[in-house]
Amino acid sequence: MTQHQRLLIIDFGSQVTQLIARRLRELNVYCEIHPFNAVTDQALRDMAPQAVILSGGPASVTTQGSPRAPQAVFELGVPVFGICYGQQVMMEQLGGQVEAGHHAEYGRAYITPAPGHKTDGIFAGLFGTGREEVWMSHGDRVTSLAPGFEVIGTSPNAPIAMIADETRHFYGVQFHPEVHHTANGRTMLENFVRLAGFTGDWTMASYKDEAIRKIRETVGDRKVICGLSGGVDSSVAAVLIHEAIGDQLTCVFVDHGLLRLNEGTEVVKMFRDNYNIPLIHADEAELFLGSLEGVSDPEVKRKTIGRLFIDVFQKYASEIDGAEFLAQGTLYPDVIESVSFSGGPSVTIKSHHNVGGLPEKMGLKLVEPLRELFKDEVRELGRELGLPASFIGRHPFPGPGLAIRCPGEITREKLEILRKADAVFIDQIRRHGLYDEIWQAFVAILPVRTVGVMGDGRTYDFACALRAVTSVDGMTADYYPFTHEFLGETATRIINEVRGINRCTYDITSKPPGTIEWE
Ligand code: XMP
Repeated sequence: MTQHQRLLIIDFGSQVTQLIARRLRELNVYCEIHPFNAVTDQALRDMAPQAVILSGGPASVTTQGSPRAPQAVFELGVPVFGICYGQQVMMEQLGGQVEAGHHAEYGRAYITPAPGHKTDGIFAGLFGTGREEVWMSHGDRVTSLAPGFEVIGTSPNAPIAMIADETRHFYGVQFHPEVHHTANGRTMLENFVRLAGFTGDWTMASYKDEAIRKIRETVGDRKVICGLSGGVDSSVAAVLIHEAIGDQLTCVFVDHGLLRLNEGTEVVKMFRDNYNIPLIHADEAELFLGSLEGVSDPEVKRKTIGRLFIDVFQKYASEIDGAEFLAQGTLYPDVIESVSFSGGPSVTIKSHHNVGGLPEKMGLKLVEPLRELFKDEVRELGRELGLPASFIGRHPFPGPGLAIRCPGEITREKLEILRKADAVFIDQIRRHGLYDEIWQAFVAILPVRTVGVMGDGRTYDFACALRAVTSVDGMTADYYPFTHEFLGETATRIINEVRGINRCTYDITSKPPGTIEWE
C-alpha cells in the first residue's frame, strides 16, 4: 500500500517492537517493521520513510559486533526516534557514549525534568504533574551525549533518559513509550508523528479499497481457491476477495468432524446463503475420525489432522478448473521476521495446524490480503465489509478443533458429549453477558469416569473441565474470575442437560505455565 505516508521501524529484537507498530496504527499511521540487518542504506533510501523509529533490543552497544542502524537513517533528513537500545545506538553512532551494566532499571520508574529543559517537540505536554511515570528495561545507559543533543529528563539510574536535538528532529528515550505502563507514551508517539508531518491517512476504509484494487490487479481474470475454517481471519479474507473478484473465488471448507455443535452448517449457511460465495463443503468426518482411532498422543493427533487436511484440501481444490491462486488469512504478526539473538531454533511446544507447504505442493501462487494487518484490524476490516458483529467477535477456535479438547483417545461418543457440554457453557456465558469479556472459553472432556449419584441411582460418567481465559494475543493468558454462583449454576446445567457427564471442574491455570488448550 505504497501511497500512504509511511514510517519505518528498525527492529533490534525487543519483545515489544510490535507494540510500537500497534500504537502507530492506532494513530492512523502506516508503518513497517524491518530487522536492522535487513535494511541496507540503499533500501532505506528507496523506501523513503517519512520518519524512522529505532526499537529496543537485548544486545549491548558496547559489545563488539552488536547491531547498528544503517548510517543512512541519520542522513535522510527525516525525524528519528530512538527507544531504549535505539537511543543508545543513536548516541553511539552520532558521537556520544554508552556505559555497560551496573545501573539496571526494570519496571516502573519516574523521570524528572532536567534543569533548564524545554518540553516541546515530542515531549510537549509532559511533566504536568512534575514527573513522568515510565516503564524501564535496561542494563546499559548513555553517559555522554552526541553533539547537538540536550538532556530533557533524567531518572535515578539513567541521568540521560530523554534527549532531543530539535534542529535535526532526533529524539531518544531510555524507557518504552510503546507499553501501556508508560503513562504518556502515546502522547510522545503522537507528538512524534505529527511533528514528522503524518496526517493519519491510514484508515480501514482506504485499506479496503486499496486491497480490492490490488487483488484485482494481481489476479486478473484467473481463479482463486480459499480454505475457509470458519474463523475470523479466513472469513474476512474470503469476503474481501469475493468483493474484489466475485465468482472467480471458490472456497473450500474442510469439515473434519471435530467442529463445535452446528458449526459446519452455520459456516456453510453464512457463506453460501448470505454471501452467495461458491463454497465446497468437504464433509470428511469419517476420514479424519477413522484415522484418529486409537490415537491418544497430542502431537500425533495434530500431525495426523494437519496431514489429512492438506490431502483433502488438495483433492477438492484439484476439482476447480484452472485455479492459479491460493488465498490465505496470514496476518502481520506471522509475517514479521523476528530477530533471533540466540541463533538456535526455539522449542516446539505444540505443532500448530496450518497449511504451510501447500502452495508449493500444488504449484499455486499466494494471495494474502491481510498480511499488513493485526488481529483487531482484521475485525475492523470485517465490520467494514459488513460481516455480522456476532461472527467477528467469535472466540478463536484451533485448527485441530475438538481433538485437542478431548485428552486421550477420541471417540464419537466423547465428541458428542463434549459438543453438548460446550454449547451449554457458551450459552451460560452469553446469558450472563460475559462473552466479549472473555478471550476464549470452552469445555474439555477428561479421560476419566467418576462415580456420582443422580436421583436414587449411581452414575459412572465422564468428568469435564471448563476453561475460560482473558488474553490479548493468546501468548499469555489468565483464567477468567467467574463468580461462584455462575460456576455452580453452570455445573448444574451441564450435569442436568448433558447425559454422560457427572462432574464438572474449573481450570484456574494461567499461561504460562499452562497453555490455553489442554493438548
Ligand atoms: P495454546 O494452547 O498454545 O493456544 O496456549 C493458544 C491459542 O492458539 C490456539 N491454538 C491453535 N490454533 N491451530 C490453530 O489455528 C492450532 O493447532 C492451535 N493450537 C492452539 C488456541 O485455541 C489458543 O487460541
